Amino acid sequence: MSIVYLNGEFLPMEEARISPMDRGFLFGDGIYEVIPSYAGRTVGLAPHLQRLQEGLSAIGMAMPPLDWSGLIEALIERNGRGNLGVYIHVSRGTDARRFHAYPDPAVVPATVYAFTFEIAAEPVADPRRAKAYRVALSEDKRWRRCHIKSTALLGNVMHFQEGYGAGLDETILHNSDGLITEASACNVFVVNAGKIATPPLDSQLLPGITRQLLLDILRRDGRLPVEERAITLAQLEGADEVWLTSSSKEIAPVIEIAGKPVGNGHIGPYWRQAQTLFSQHKYDY
Ligand code: PDD
Repeated sequence: MSIVYLNGEFLPMEEARISPMDRGFLFGDGIYEVIPSYAGRTVGLAPHLQRLQEGLSAIGMAMPPLDWSGLIEALIERNGRGNLGVYIHVSRGTDARRFHAYPDPAVVPATVYAFTFEIAAEPVADPRRAKAYRVALSEDKRWRRCHIKSTALLGNVMHFQEGYGAGLDETILHNSDGLITEASACNVFVVNAGKIATPPLDSQLLPGITRQLLLDILRRDGRLPVEERAITLAQLEGADEVWLTSSSKEIAPVIEIAGKPVGNGHIGPYWRQAQTLFSQHKYDY
């Protein structure tokens, strides 16, 4: 049985109730996080909570004053400490009327909901055991504030479905200038002639925590050159390797984009090095 947290209480998921007047439901007015945890150890807890706070601040909300790490730890314990994603959702609360303007938080407090879900076992840097991703490619039609981890995910959902509906695993997105932004629920890295690159942060993409950790781990290690720079469609299509990063996948190798092989169509050697380093250092954060 799954135990969830809702507004101060731990209870079985089946018993969790919120009002249909909640602004999260009516407007998608909220911020969320997904934090991975393996056998009770979280990856990147501090940067995830930092991003939650920044997202709330970007939409004019304060971080609810809770013992966040205690809450997350308790939820992991109550759900068996396995391979878990911890989902946290803070919405602008339940108002009595549907009115677009932000309500007074002293009158309408935030709704805080958290649950865990099973994720795959910790990825290992073994091409024979890794899942190789085949993805679609599409123009990014989401809003212009993609750096905010908003619960209003319809744009992402529609882009994900473009790939998924065609039997693929994800959809990589490019803007109208032909520059790669990210994927519908992951960041994107490419490797060209031994150089690793990922698009720079701006309002067109989410500042992914896996992206941030991977950049930091690669830079500290210093053996593989890595840069944040614009990536064109041609550079994506001509890349030797393409990876997707997210909290539940870590570094996922892409072997096919829009029906065309990436590099030689097999998981590449740089992926193995990057995933090895990530596995070694991810608990440092
Ligand atoms: N997705 N870009 C988008 C649009 C995302 O939704 C995500 C995460 C990422 C990767 O971010 P991180 O490394 O912090 O997980 C990039 C989560 C896991 C989700 O929506 O389920």
